[in-house]
Amino acid sequence: MSDINKAPTHVAIIMDGNGRWAKSKGFPRTVGHAKGAQNLEDMLYIADELGIKYLTVYAFSTENWKRSEDEVMALMNLFREYLRNGFKKAARNNVRIRVIGYRPGLPKDLQDLADELEEFSKDNTGLQFQIALNYGSRDEITRAVKKIAEDVKEGKINPEDISEEMISKHLDTADIPDPDLMIRTSGEQRLSNYLLWQLAYTEFYYTDTHWPVFGKKDLQEAIEWYNTRDRRYGNAK
Ligand code: FPP
Repeated sequence: MSDINKAPTHVAIIMDGNGRWAKSKGFPRTVGHAKGAQNLEDMLYIADELGIKYLTVYAFSTENWKRSEDEVMALMNLFREYLRNGFKKAARNNVRIRVIGYRPGLPKDLQDLADELEEFSKDNTGLQFQIALNYGSRDEITRAVKKIAEDVKEGKINPEDISEEMISKHLDTADIPDPDLMIRTSGEQRLSNYLLWQLAYTEFYYTDTHWPVFGKKDLQEAIEWYNTRDRRYGNAK
């Protein structure tokens, strides 16, 4: 990619449309999720190749528990397999993997896998990859507020000390720069409780393409569009 088409530092993605893609092919929804997981795998390498430094994906929201028991179980199995394979991937490709979201709400083995994978990959300097699992932005902000309130209660800080920076540091994304570009696939234009605080100055890109078939060309088009924006805030100046 030329200098004119400079890659954004941090791209956040809402990987929507697995179910619709599967339906359009006559497959059950779970096949769409499996294909979506495969596509995410490819997208990691594509993002890295295009010069993106941070990639954050919405894999499971705090609201997704309302889906059918079968679908939730299939998704948890997919995450399990994905995180287990993550060790090899991280080692081979120098990828750092972090899991954001309310971890105690996940099955215990997934919590352990997330802890271990983060520890295992913490010194990797290649693509910084965040997976949002049992993530909801309002939940994340509420947890941050509670932690800060505890510090006030214990006399560690005064209410006047609370700043935007302090709030950012108490979020799951502490130390990760805010996204420059947010992509939502499959036509919807909602934020669905994703990174509400972090996306304050982010450019939003929507495409009708379903996640399982969102490929390199699609990501390049999103980056080209991003480069036409007049960015006054955020990481890319
Ligand atoms: C949205 O499609 C997708 C999800 C709720 C789950 C995202 C999960 C994956 C892409 C699986 C791979 C992820 C990891 C980390 C292994 P949808 O079911 O809402 O589709 P629809 O709106 O067409 O029904």
